[in-house]
Amino acid sequence: MNVTFRQLKVFEAVARHLSFTRAAQELHLSQPAVSMQIKQLEESAGLPLFEQLGKKIYLTEAGREMSHYCCSIASQLEEARDVLEQLKGIQRGHLDIAVASTANYFATRLLAAFAKQHEGVTFSLDVTNRASLLRQLEQNGKDLVIMGLPPETMSLEMEAFMENPLVVIASPDHALAGKKVSLHQLQKENFVVREAGSGTRIAMERFFNEHGVSLQTGMEMTSNEAIKQAVEAGLGLGIVSIHTLALEREAGWLVVLDVDAFPILRHWYVVHRKGKRLSPIAQAFRQFVLSEAQNILIAA
Ligand code: PGA
Repeated sequence: MNVTFRQLKVFEAVARHLSFTRAAQELHLSQPAVSMQIKQLEESAGLPLFEQLGKKIYLTEAGREMSHYCCSIASQLEEARDVLEQLKGIQRGHLDIAVASTANYFATRLLAAFAKQHEGVTFSLDVTNRASLLRQLEQNGKDLVIMGLPPETMSLEMEAFMENPLVVIASPDHALAGKKVSLHQLQKENFVVREAGSGTRIAMERFFNEHGVSLQTGMEMTSNEAIKQAVEAGLGLGIVSIHTLALEREAGWLVVLDVDAFPILRHWYVVHRKGKRLSPIAQAFRQFVLSEAQNILIAA
């Protein structure tokens, strides 16, 4: 059957109004134009679609069938339009995310992999510590946040996507390197630790409290890079996420100590405020992180 969308549109309007005049008004067409479209449609269908009884027109049986298919074609078209709009939404747009300083070691790789699939998308990435991320969530300032487990007291949607093991690092010539180390042996060591607002610091303090061990944590630094450099230089031991370490371990600049009950097992979460309406691009990125992050980062 050789039918055009225009004919179907005109047919749908006439069938709904059961009037050529009203359909013509609605579609801003002349009445002869409407009649012509219907005549052509009836010719392709090979059957009359309307019949006239007195002044009124009615759908024939063929007309009722056609009307049924017309509705489902119209709703399919609407669905296709919605899907395409969604696709446009996730091919363009801007993503504003914030990540814990420790997550920065993999966040840019995730963004790069996502950007390959969504070429028109631009990003702002704020790299900061846990305390500042919690403030941003409080103010609803970012599309999404990647961080360690947020506190239960906040009203947040959070989902874990990857493990985040924390390990003890030392310079390769440290006396404990290559040995089996007990937690109590660590009490005699100097530790270079992250600042008070850091998630790594909080997790580490909680862990040692639970094990009744108190560490000497006189040296405080606000970045993982500074801690690694200080440990390499022999200032003491450090506790960092394994994600911060690839290069230094490969190059042999740092070693991970074999300490009882280690690693401290944390997880990475993708987080936003409960009730926040995520943009299509933010929804797509969240889904991407949950389903792909692990594969992308393990393969790297
Ligand atoms: P941090 O965050 O970079 O603030 O230590 C890591 C985390 O939340 O585990």
